[in-house]
Amino acid sequence: MAKKIQSIRGMHDVLPEQTPLWQYLEQTVRDTLARYGYQEIRMPIVEVSELFSRAVGEVTDIVEKEMYAFTDRNGDRLTLRPEGTAGCVRAGIQHGLFFNQQQRLWYTGPMFRHERPQKGRYRQFQQIGVEAFGIASADIDAELITMTANLWQELGLKNVHLELNTLGDNQSRAIYRKALIDYFSQYNEQLDSDAKNRLHSNPLRILDSKNPKMREIVANAPDLYDYIDAESKAHFTELCHRLDTLGIAYSINSRLVRGLDYYSRTVFEWITTDLGAQGTVCAGGRYDGLVEQLGGRATSGIGFAMGVERLVSLLEDQADSVALNRLDAYLIMAGEEAQLAGMQLVEQLRQALPQLRILANCGGGSFKAQIKRADKSGATFALILGSNEVRDKTITIKSLRQKVAQESIAQDKVESFLSSTI
Ligand code: HAM
Repeated sequence: MAKKIQSIRGMHDVLPEQTPLWQYLEQTVRDTLARYGYQEIRMPIVEVSELFSRAVGEVTDIVEKEMYAFTDRNGDRLTLRPEGTAGCVRAGIQHGLFFNQQQRLWYTGPMFRHERPQKGRYRQFQQIGVEAFGIASADIDAELITMTANLWQELGLKNVHLELNTLGDNQSRAIYRKALIDYFSQYNEQLDSDAKNRLHSNPLRILDSKNPKMREIVANAPDLYDYIDAESKAHFTELCHRLDTLGIAYSINSRLVRGLDYYSRTVFEWITTDLGAQGTVCAGGRYDGLVEQLGGRATSGIGFAMGVERLVSLLEDQADSVALNRLDAYLIMAGEEAQLAGMQLVEQLRQALPQLRILANCGGGSFKAQIKRADKSGATFALILGSNEVRDKTITIKSLRQKVAQESIAQDKVESFLSSTI
């Protein structure tokens, strides 16, 4: 037998029994974003590799170790996007969306990172990203955060809490960077190899170290907040004040630095304790220098992205997937005459009742085989049409979920029967 071909490690199929939950999440997010006036943008999945090294940063895990990069047939270096912000900024510059205007945008799609797969961490994963451009003040930071808080409420998600930090402007970060290099250099012998590699290229990331041996050194490192410029501090205070006014709870975590280099000022993560190690379901921040860094005119930017797989697995425990998977009726047709009449009837019902979810038997089969399929489909009712029913213009209705006697009703009554049950 030929060897079976399997999906790639870390890249998963979403099966029909799971898609209703995905659709429910996507639809709820779409509706919420529309209510706040955000517009959808769609970018290609593949971009030139340079976009990500310039935007995300040369010395980040994503660019150093995780990119799906390849040379195409023309010899161009291309990459399957590891995230959406870089492509969104590229598109905005290319199409003149930023000049003298504000934009509130969102996108969704697969992202690719060659990480070590585990629960909640995949090599292909889905993000819903939101980006706002051209607004420098903290009101937009507060709007984005409030919108996500409302979304969790809408979805019925519990146990998701907000962590906030400010990274200051680029200048204050440069001073802090130097302070970190000086501090960590004193412990050169005790630094692990990751920290040694990052010492001069990206010392902020050493603060993110998960190595227990590094814990004490990291804990005593200079505090970012002592180096933040006055304007960034005022921006952060304003954001916190706005969140307090809106009743959004948060905790300030001065160690929150994020894994992408483009951030300045506000950064935030929504974290749950219900998912184990990969508990960040939504993360983002301000990136006021990025548009200029990618060749556009200086434009403020702020945004975040949600991890759809992680949110879906939170929802799995909470949402009513039986209701999401609802099928109202399964039409059984016994005999050739019934098959023709049944197909006409079912089309009339679909036109009259747009909410109705009805599956019509195809591929024939005995009555017994059809009733088995009906039962397996999860439908609430079986509608049965045999030669007697065709002759008498009736239809038999059998409940598949409750023990009640089946009944026969006139075909012209079936529409009102179904509309009262859906
Ligand atoms: P990020 O923190 O790299 O930020 O990813 C955002 C979210 O995507 C994470 O919090 C997580 O839920 C999900 N995610 C990331 N990697 C994986 C993975 N390997 N498997 C499953 N889920 C994952 C960004 O991507 C930024 N572009 C967000 C942003 C937008 N900042 C400003 N605007």
